[in-house]
Amino acid sequence: MTLPKLTIGKITLDVPIIQGGMGVGISWENLAGAVAKEGAMGVVSAVGTGYRFPELVKKDKFGRPIGPENTHSREALKRIVQRAKELSQGRGAIGVNVLCAITDYPRVVRDAAEAGADAIISGAGLPLKLPEYVKGFDIALIPIVSSARALKLICQTWEKRYQRLPDAVVLEGPLSGGHQGFHKEDCFKKEYQLESLLPEVLEEAKNWGDLKVIVAGGVWSYQDIKKY
Ligand SMILES: Cc1cc2nc3c(=O)[nH]c(=O)nc-3n(C[C@H](O)[C@H](O)[C@H](O)COP(=O)(O)O)c2cc1C
Repeated sequence: MTLPKLTIGKITLDVPIIQGGMGVGISWENLAGAVAKEGAMGVVSAVGTGYRFPELVKKDKFGRPIGPENTHSREALKRIVQRAKELSQGRGAIGVNVLCAITDYPRVVRDAAEAGADAIISGAGLPLKLPEYVKGFDIALIPIVSSARALKLICQTWEKRYQRLPDAVVLEGPLSGGHQGFHKEDCFKKEYQLESLLPEVLEEAKNWGDLKVIVAGGVWSYQDIKKY
């Protein structure tokens, strides 16, 4: 079976897969560019970009970027996004993952938009003000949630404050890596498994128009993709 295309706002992906952003130092331009070149969405992490191109930032005597503006460097992110785009040869799309929890979140989101990212993917907290930081940019916004309740809150808030909605949403279950929206003990409960969360999130998504739901966490094979 051929997988169907995935449309998110203005983006059409021939391969309906979004590569998870992985910080620090895992998903940079080479991975994201290679994924996009296959027709999917490659995602670079905006966290710690100063470590990727140390020659662009101010460092202390141990070679560590100084402060948030050098750790999450605007110039380095710009270079990463541009190189990822070059590597993609115009196929797929390039997203930037920005963790809500980082210092300088608003500035880094704006940096990503200025760098020419096609989408911002944002979790590790509720990105309730995300639209505010990309004003004037035509960019897809994709929050990461782990419950229908979180999706509802985001949609209600964005609609009321910014008259816009997410272009898609990532539902991350407890098998995902990185920062999660679950307590450790809940990760093992049936009601928090991805297949239990999905129906209620799909139901909530229906209230907000053509909102695509992308599942993450334990979706590792063609069979897993087909199942979801
Ligand atoms: C090593 C590692 C680092 C990650 N870092 C981030 C991150 O910085 N931001 C984020 O939103 N998700 C992060 N994640 C989660 C991934 O983006 C992705 O959603 C998740 O890994 C999907 O689940 P899977 O690994 O089962 O495919 C990370 C995952 C891994 C394994």
